[in-house]
Amino acid sequence: MPEPGTTSPEIAPARPELIQGGMGVGVSGWRLARAVAVAGQRLGARVLGVVSGTGLPVMLVDRLQAGDQDVVRALKAFDPGIAREIMDKYLVEGPSPANLRRKLPPKPEVLVTGNEATKARMTKLAVAAAFVEIWLAKEGHSGPIGINLLEKVQLMHLPVLLGAMMAGVDYVLVGAGIPHQVPAVLANYARNEPASYRMDVAGADSKQLLTLDPRQFVPQGRRLRRPQFLLIASHHALAMRLAATVEVDGFVMEGPSAGGHNAPARGKTLAEDGQPIYGDRDRPDLAKVAELGKPFWLAGSYASPERITEAKALGAAGVQVGSAFALCNESGLREDIKRRLRQRIASESLEIKTSAMASPSSFPFQVVQLEGSLSEQCVYESRKRICNIGHLTQAYQKDEREGGGIGFRCPGEPIDAFVKKGGSRAETDGRVCLCNGLGAAAGYGNMTKSGAEPIIVTLGKDLGFYKGLPVHPDGSYSAEDVVRTILPRRESAAVS
Ligand SMILES: Cc1cc2nc3c(=O)[nH]c(=O)nc-3n(C[C@H](O)[C@H](O)[C@H](O)COP(=O)(O)O)c2cc1C
Repeated sequence: MPEPGTTSPEIAPARPELIQGGMGVGVSGWRLARAVAVAGQRLGARVLGVVSGTGLPVMLVDRLQAGDQDVVRALKAFDPGIAREIMDKYLVEGPSPANLRRKLPPKPEVLVTGNEATKARMTKLAVAAAFVEIWLAKEGHSGPIGINLLEKVQLMHLPVLLGAMMAGVDYVLVGAGIPHQVPAVLANYARNEPASYRMDVAGADSKQLLTLDPRQFVPQGRRLRRPQFLLIASHHALAMRLAATVEVDGFVMEGPSAGGHNAPARGKTLAEDGQPIYGDRDRPDLAKVAELGKPFWLAGSYASPERITEAKALGAAGVQVGSAFALCNESGLREDIKRRLRQRIASESLEIKTSAMASPSSFPFQVVQLEGSLSEQCVYESRKRICNIGHLTQAYQKDEREGGGIGFRCPGEPIDAFVKKGGSRAETDGRVCLCNGLGAAAGYGNMTKSGAEPIIVTLGKDLGFYKGLPVHPDGSYSAEDVVRTILPRRESAAVS
């Protein structure tokens, strides 16, 4: 078998009709992405399984502490020397108590603030984590696999993209920002040349240059395949801007009902219940997107055969779907949470609200209103703020009082710490620690002294997909059920 990441450099994968959207943290892990790709092959449908690229080192070390042998196998395929280093530090063999407090990896900020040895260790961990996730998602089939990144989480882009390419990732999909630097990174890695990324630093005159030389990991002479690069955008203006300046292979046009983060509304007034109000100005002109001559997909409430037909009538190549996959058996959401959510959907008693404040990224974020979760004010207020994962931090220029240089802060961290770092108190209002809350909902919650962290859950606003699925008596269904429902055979058979 050819080595992953080096296969058929010139052949682009077949264009998917259905993209399973990337869902962090840990909701679209390798198991879900693989199940989608395998279902596509079994059903003869063109589908793309996508792993979330957010928080991968946290999940890698957590799984190793649970003795996960899939991860061990994938790590060994990466680089036996680096695998040994990582396993020596984190692997726990044999049974361990379920409530064992887990070690965390260093925060991504050490890539800037750490000494050379720490930077090197963190880089290896992040490259390895992305390799493992893609390698496992691609194992045993030949369907395409993508990775999803949030542009705002800039610190991790270089190592995560390298690890993903080393494992042969077919698509890179980036949202939550303007990812105009990503195509050059992909091109440089494909030539096995150093890549760089200019990271935003609040309050600084210039950006911070991050660099990574792939030759530390990829032997000379080995050529990595450049994956297709898709921009996730809400508006045609961003698609046009990116297409005019860099090499982009297509667009996922995501509307405000989609799960996860959404683009801010153009009108700044909020509804009485605090939700942003989207209007005509927020709607993309799809004719303008089509004029760019690249394929595009529609996302947000498109999980049905009727909706995919509508999308195609508008010129789309297909659709991207999140929520329907988030609740299927192979998703990484905790089983007990999935069960509760499915029951509530079946009884039509689940509400999703767009919060303008919850996400430290300051993008609107869809929050499932669920008892016992951080959507409840009392749970929110009783949580002691901590920041021990640090994937959504923002770089800032430290002032003289702090000794200068670059620091990292997050409006979801303890308020005094944030204010000491020059952040404004007002910015911390209502912010939720998404690293810990989403991680806990995916089963990565045993990372604090005080035990499990409270959860937060996100889903899209349109839950109508559930009625159309062939659910089992207990309400469960598989990724293949979703694919089969959205792409009935007659649809997929009609395409080449
Ligand atoms: C649980 C969940 C997590 C998500 N996380 C991300 C993410 O990390 N990055 C991203 O680009 N989109 C994310 N999304 C959006 C999905 O990829 C997809 O575009 C969206 O859910 C489509 O709308 P739908 O939920 O109506 O199908 C998330 C969606 C859900 C439901």
